[in-house]
Amino acid sequence: MEKYELEDSLKEEIRSRTLGEGFIKLVQSVRRGGGRFRISLRPVEIGGERKYQAEMAEGRDVQVKNFDANGAAEGVEEIIAQKGARELHLITATGDLHVRVTKKGHVLVSRSSGVEREATVKPHDRVKNLPLAQFDSAAYLKAAGLADGDGRIRASMRGKYDQVNEFLKVVGEVVAPCAKAPSTVFTAVDFGYGKAYLTVALYFYLVHVLGYSDAKVVGVDRRADVIESARKMAEKLDVADRVEFIEADIGAYNAESIDLVVSLHACDTATDESIAKGVEMHARYILSAPCCQHELQKTIGPQSSKPFAGLLRQGILRERMCDILTDAFRAMILRILGYKVQVMEFVSSEATARNIMLKCEYGVKPGQPGPVGEYLELRDWWKVVPWLETRLAPLLEKHLSRYD
Ligand SMILES: C[S@@+](CC[C@H](N)C(=O)[O-])C[C@H]1O[C@@H](n2cnc3c(N)ncnc32)[C@H](O)[C@@H]1O
Repeated sequence: MEKYELEDSLKEEIRSRTLGEGFIKLVQSVRRGGGRFRISLRPVEIGGERKYQAEMAEGRDVQVKNFDANGAAEGVEEIIAQKGARELHLITATGDLHVRVTKKGHVLVSRSSGVEREATVKPHDRVKNLPLAQFDSAAYLKAAGLADGDGRIRASMRGKYDQVNEFLKVVGEVVAPCAKAPSTVFTAVDFGYGKAYLTVALYFYLVHVLGYSDAKVVGVDRRADVIESARKMAEKLDVADRVEFIEADIGAYNAESIDLVVSLHACDTATDESIAKGVEMHARYILSAPCCQHELQKTIGPQSSKPFAGLLRQGILRERMCDILTDAFRAMILRILGYKVQVMEFVSSEATARNIMLKCEYGVKPGQPGPVGEYLELRDWWKVVPWLETRLAPLLEKHLSRYD
């Protein structure tokens, strides 16, 4: 028997207890190259089927993969065949097995017995259904700072993690998976990318989940201090040639055509600018989660609508009322310009209080009397001109003038 090798009977015990009934978890930890390599295997239920989830962690790199029984059996053989000093801990419903292989190659074995645990296989569907769990996102999560070195989502980043997941879920609802040649180009712009959480995740989601292997994502932000870290993240993840970051005002960005425009909490009228750019660039999809909104608050007042004077006098009610009106105007303008629009809560209000999204897909005849009439009636009742109307006047005028 070679140094560090386990006895055949011990190997067989590890195999049968890991792949048999009552298996809860197997963890092996090995020192190598001054660091530690840790692998764990546990059963999970995915889509009603029993699978095995392996987590491999080395330094700051963590990878999580799911295997069927054959893949898990191969993994167990690799674990058993591991050389060098190591510790193995096998947990089953009836007890634990501890194996310690010392530096000198001595194998020390201990077993607990008489334990009665329930080996429940935890359903993994909820996690599996999250967009960030539909591809190997471990490297992204760490590079973006959403996960710590062990691959766990940082408590302080849970809200952002949820926002990105739920935003991508909506992308998956509107954008059909790539059905044509894999080389179909799909272009997306993220306006006001900030720390680029969404920008980079969107790229991976388009490629690995929706199958657009030739996807390209551009992030546009006017802040000079965010571009370096965003570019570094793209380089680290080896996608710098497909995820480009530009330092510019949204209003200065131009592209002939674009498939998808996203904006997540672009401040104030930057949301309107993103929407306007999306329309001008003939974006098929516009997904916009607005942020703070000040524009309408400046112009709306008791003179706009007397019955609301008491409401508008209260700062917080005035703010919320203006947010709602602004989003309603945005939705109506987009409908006039040929988009099907749904205003929805894309994520829970615990993840962010700014949880409204305008989910828009081009595809109806522009300038229909219904949407135009509804828009004019609301706008004129409030005696305001929304910022987006002014911004998109060249495209809107012909539709609005017919009913004015
Ligand atoms: C609240 S942050 C959101 C960042 C990111 N989308 C997220 O959700 O994590 C808003 C970002 O929009 C950018 N921004 C606001 N107005 C802009 C404009 N007119 N042009 C370009 N970027 C703008 C800001 O610089 C900032 O980085």
